[in-house]
Amino acid sequence: MERHRIIIDTDPGQDDAVAILLALASPEEIEVLGITAVAGNVPLALTALNARKVCELAGRPDVKVFAGCDRPLGRELVTAEHVHGKTGLDGPVLPDPEMPLQDGHAVDFIIDTLRREPAGSVTLCPLGPLTNIAMAFEKAPDIMERVREIVLMGGAYFQVGNITPAAEFNIFVDPQAAKIVFASGVEITVMPLDVTHKALVTKARNDAFRAIGNRVGVAVAEMTDFFERFDKEKYGSEGAPLHDPCVTAYLIRPDLFAGRHINVEIETMSELTMGMTVADWWRVSGRAPNATFMGDVDADGFFTLLTERLARL
Ligand code: RIB
Ligand code: CA
Repeated sequence: MERHRIIIDTDPGQDDAVAILLALASPEEIEVLGITAVAGNVPLALTALNARKVCELAGRPDVKVFAGCDRPLGRELVTAEHVHGKTGLDGPVLPDPEMPLQDGHAVDFIIDTLRREPAGSVTLCPLGPLTNIAMAFEKAPDIMERVREIVLMGGAYFQVGNITPAAEFNIFVDPQAAKIVFASGVEITVMPLDVTHKALVTKARNDAFRAIGNRVGVAVAEMTDFFERFDKEKYGSEGAPLHDPCVTAYLIRPDLFAGRHINVEIETMSELTMGMTVADWWRVSGRAPNATFMGDVDADGFFTLLTERLARL
């Protein structure tokens, strides 16, 4: 099977960390060309640090990590320490990385990679606000037609918002960037809260992570122990949603997910609904479809895959 050659754009974030670990544990299906950090869950300095901590946890200090945009395109940065802790990766104690940040800006790495690699061979996997992606498209419009696909975590429809009543965090932080990306014409697959809220890390599932017995399994269980407290209290659910790993799991097992090819627009005018993903699930708008918007996941299959792969690290 042809490997997915990907750039992970990320704001780690415990769930981002698990998504990165899953990708690095799956070299038969995924080649990680590089990781680009963006401001989101926590400020850029921390997301760039955390991305390297995760690579070294995976035993992959060779992965190229770049720092990107430290604020959204047109708004003040909103962070989520209340969910992820002040470090953004609270839970396990992970050593400061020895691997350096790469020279150069993440946006330039995205542009250079897409211009260098064969057209249609690189997939972009944004796991945080879309600032880096939008900046790359604005700076180098020629790269848009060279992207194979964008598979992103963000947005919500039936699940409505998690940071405001109307908006999911990644889109809310940089709605102008999201508008640019969803209008780009690039093929987009969206993992919204509608899916990720069906991928709950129950106690049994987290116990299975811990029982793997390697340092990755223990670290992931400790990450979950930390970040699940917020969602379980807020939603009264039996576990926290594991948002970002839905992106890398989709690349490995797309059959675990189901959705519809529909029109998705981004609210950028009203402060009340700023960052809302207006997903035309029932196809009533007449607007042209621009994204495959996922609505369901085989949660048991997802966690079985994830646990099996984390055991490989
Ligand atoms: O709303 C969930 C998303 O926001 C996830 O990507 C999480 O890491 C945060 O960035
Ligand atoms: Ca994220």
